[in-house]
Amino acid sequence: MSEIAVYKVPESVAANTFCTEGQYRDLYKQSINDPIAFWSEQKNCVDWFRDPQIIKNTSFSGEVSIKWFEDGELNVSYNCIDRHLPSRANEIALIWEGDNPAESAKVTYGELAREVNRFANVLKSLGVKKGDRVTMYMPMILETTYAMLACARIGAVHSIVFGGFSPDAVASRLDDCQSSFIITADEGLRGGRKVPLKANVDAAIVELAASTGRSVDTVLVVRRTGADIAMTKGRDVWYHDVSQDVSDHCDPEPMKAEDPLFILYTSGSTGKPKGVLHTTGGYLVWVTMTFKYIFDYKPGEVYWCSADVGWITGHSYIVYGPLSNGATSLVFEGVPNYPDASRFWNVIDNFKVNIFYTAPTAIRALMREGEDFVKATDRSSLRLLGSVGEPINPEAWNWYYTVVGEGRCPIVDTWWQTETGGVLISPLPGATPLKPGSATRPFFGVKPALVDADGNILDGATEGNLVLMDSWPGQMRTVYGDHERFIQTYFSSYKGLYFTGDGCRRDEDGYYWITGRVDDVINVSGHRMGTAEVESALVAHEDVSEAAVVGYPHDIKGQGIFAYVTCKAGVEPTDQLRSDLVKWVRKEIGPIASPDVILFAPGLPKTRSGKIMRRILRKIAENDTDSLGDTSTLADPSVVDDLIRTYRVAT
Ligand code: WT7
Repeated sequence: MSEIAVYKVPESVAANTFCTEGQYRDLYKQSINDPIAFWSEQKNCVDWFRDPQIIKNTSFSGEVSIKWFEDGELNVSYNCIDRHLPSRANEIALIWEGDNPAESAKVTYGELAREVNRFANVLKSLGVKKGDRVTMYMPMILETTYAMLACARIGAVHSIVFGGFSPDAVASRLDDCQSSFIITADEGLRGGRKVPLKANVDAAIVELAASTGRSVDTVLVVRRTGADIAMTKGRDVWYHDVSQDVSDHCDPEPMKAEDPLFILYTSGSTGKPKGVLHTTGGYLVWVTMTFKYIFDYKPGEVYWCSADVGWITGHSYIVYGPLSNGATSLVFEGVPNYPDASRFWNVIDNFKVNIFYTAPTAIRALMREGEDFVKATDRSSLRLLGSVGEPINPEAWNWYYTVVGEGRCPIVDTWWQTETGGVLISPLPGATPLKPGSATRPFFGVKPALVDADGNILDGATEGNLVLMDSWPGQMRTVYGDHERFIQTYFSSYKGLYFTGDGCRRDEDGYYWITGRVDDVINVSGHRMGTAEVESALVAHEDVSEAAVVGYPHDIKGQGIFAYVTCKAGVEPTDQLRSDLVKWVRKEIGPIASPDVILFAPGLPKTRSGKIMRRILRKIAENDTDSLGDTSTLADPSVVDDLIRTYRVAT
C-alpha cells in the first residue's frame, strides 16, 4: 500500500483558530462524557427568548423520540437577522452573483431585515399561518432566502423542491405534506438557459388535481426574467404587487424548540422520497456551531457555498448556519462552467472570497478542463476550501489543494446527510491534520461506530457500516407524517443505533473514510437518487415490462445511473426507445435522474423467490464480470450470460 500523505495543520492556521488540536480533544471528550453539561453551555451560541432547562431527551429505541432543548423558545429569523442589527446592520449579509456575470448585488443585514419582514407580512396577508406548509420551487435568487427566513419568522414550515425537479415531483411533495401555498418565480436562469418554473408549477397543480383531487390556494410569483407567463385569477399573485403596501416590521413568532422549521424531501432505498423533518432549536444550534468551527469563520470574511438551496447543503450552509453567525454568504445563481470554466475562480476574485465550499463532482468537471482556467485567476483571498456530497477521490483532492488552493488552504471534507441537519464528521482547520479522501474525525457530540452485518460494534482499525450511537441536536426528528417509516428506515437495521446507509473504514488514527452507500441509493453528482424511484418511473412507461437500476463508477458524477430494461412482448428495443426512455425519466423525476446507460435485457437475474440479484447487475454495470460470485441460487443462471453478451455488444 502506498504511503498516505498527511497534511499537518499549518502554523498560521493554528495561530488564529477557534479550536486547536488540544481544544478539540478536550471539548470532544466533554461532549461525549457529559453531553448535558456540554450542550447547556453550547446552546448559548443562539439567542433564546426562553432559555431551555431540559437539554436532552432522546431515545433510539422503541418509538424513537428525539427532543433537544424542549422547553426553550426562540426564532430562527431573529437569530439570523435581528440579533446582528445592533452591531452589523451595515455589514453585508448576502452577496448575490447572477447567472449572467454582469449581474450581482449586495445586501446588508439592515436591508435583509427589511426584506424578510416585508416578505413575512406578505405571507401573513395571504393567509399563511404558523404551522402551515409553504412549498417553494425557486431559482437561486435573493427572494428565496427572504422567503425561507420569512417562513421561519412567522412559524410557517417551508418545503423546498429543487428547481431541477419535474412537475410530478412538485405534485407529489405538495400532496405528501398537504401544502396549498407555493412560492415560485416566473423563470429560473442557469448556464444561460431558462427554466420554466411557473409553467412547471401550473403543470404540477394539474397533476395534483388529477391524482388526488386536491387544489392549491395560492401561487406567489417572484419576477426573475420578466417572461410572459400565465397567471390564474384568484390563485396566482405577483410578489411585486402584493408587497407594495406591506409594513417593514413583523414580530418574530416565539417558537418552541421542537416546532418544525422545515421539511426537505430526500430519496431512500425504497418507495417515494421521504419528508425529512427538522425542528427549530436543535437544528439552529447545530448549524450555527458547525459553521463556526468547521469553517473557522471570523467576522468580516466572505464565505461561499456553491450548492443550491434546494438541497440540505443550501439550507444549512448558505442560509441558516452562515446568517446565524452574522457571516457574509454568497448566493450563486449560475453553474461552474458558464460562461467558461473560470467562473468559480472569477467570482472568488471579484468578491474576495475567503472560504469556498463545493462538491467533488464540480471539482472533477473543472479539473478536466485543465489548469489554465484556474491559473488565469488570482484566488489569493482564499484561505479555506470545503468539500461535500460524496467521497472525494485523492486525485480531485490533490488538484483542489494544489491547483486551486496553491497548497495554502486546508480542505474540510465534510460528511453528513439531509437527515443529520449539518456536518457530523469533518476536519477542523486549526485542529485536524488532513488525509486526502478522509472526512477525518467526528464533530463535538457525535458518536460514530462501525458495525458488521449482525450489528456487532467493531473496534480499532476496521471497516463496516457506519452508525451513530447517540443523538445530536441537528438530527431529523421524523419522516413527515410517517413516524413508522422513520423508525423502519433508520433504527431497524441495528437495535438502538441510527444507521446512516453508508459503508466506512476507520484507520489506525481513528480517522473515518466513507466508502459510499451500502443500500440501494445512488449518489449522482453528490445528489441522492433511489434506484427504486428510477425503476418505478421506467416501468410506468407503456413499453417497459421490468426495470432494474444500479449505480456504476462515473468519472465526473461519481456514480452514474445504469438501467436494465426489459420490454413488453412485441416491443422492439430500439435506439429511439432508449432515448424516449431517458426523456421519460427526466419528465417523471427531473434531469438529475436521467439514466446514463440503458441496457435492454431479455431477462433479469432473479432468485427462485423472484428477488432481483442486484449484486450481479452492479458487477456487470461496472464491467467486472470475472468476480460475479455465486450465481447458483438464480432461478435461471443463463440470464447472466445473456446480459453479459448484451453488455459487450452495447459497449
Ligand atoms: C450521502 C448523503 C450532506 C449534504 C449533501 C448530500 C454522501 C455526503 C460526503 C463526504 C463521503 C459523503 C454519503 C451520505 N456524502 N458527504 N464528505 N464523503 N460521502 O446529502 O443527499 O442527504 O446525501 O452523501 O453517502 O450518506 P444527501
